[in-house]
Amino acid sequence: MPKLGVNIDHVATIRQARRTVEPDPVWAASLAELGGADGITIHLREDRRHIQDRDVRVLRDTVQVKLNLEMATAEEIVRIAIQTKPHKVTLVPEKREEVTTEGGLDVIGNRDRIAEVVDRLHETGIEVALFIDPEESQIEVSRELGVSGVELHTGCYADAADEANKVRELLKLTEAGAVAIRAGLLLHLGHGLTYRNVVPVARINGVSELNIGHSIIARAVLVGLEPAVREMKRLIQ
Ligand code: PXP
Repeated sequence: MPKLGVNIDHVATIRQARRTVEPDPVWAASLAELGGADGITIHLREDRRHIQDRDVRVLRDTVQVKLNLEMATAEEIVRIAIQTKPHKVTLVPEKREEVTTEGGLDVIGNRDRIAEVVDRLHETGIEVALFIDPEESQIEVSRELGVSGVELHTGCYADAADEANKVRELLKLTEAGAVAIRAGLLLHLGHGLTYRNVVPVARINGVSELNIGHSIIARAVLVGLEPAVREMKRLIQ
């Protein structure tokens, strides 16, 4: 059965909209754990648009399940990871202008830098996974770099315009997943997964972890809104 990593970046996005202290992603992590999350995922972006350095430090001390830090290979961020030592780092590509991570890492094209960062993280005792597109060549180079796992990008599956494309993308993920497992890599999947599209992906053979953010936080905002309004109404009356 796959484990669930809950990405709580959006909680920090709401906080940063007002540069205030609420909602605190640290509280969100605790609640996600109470709900059964097997891991907490955060992305420390270079532009600090949501998760802040302080969040990484406090979550490192407070999260009781696995803390998975998504990050680019930018030197400043690598240093923070080495100092704070999350359980796991998932290396992702990052562009300032993107709304969310677009596409997987090009492990082939950026092999030297990725290899250097992987080695430095390993020396500190941090487990490393690479976020890549479901392509055999990227999986093969990931294996050569000695990482423990790959997270296959499920965005094309999630965004498929029709059923035929969805089936094709699911097959691609299934086949790439089998390649990763044969290569001895842990198979993680993530990006764009929702309550509606997650089940076929969770059934892919050998998948050990799903990382889901947007859909869970979106649902949390809606299912929590009614009691939140009731509570405020009671106070002002
Ligand atoms: N996995 C990776 C590597 C990501 O970059 C993201 C988005 O931050 C996710 C999973 C979660 O994607 P979503 O928010 O679409 O569920």
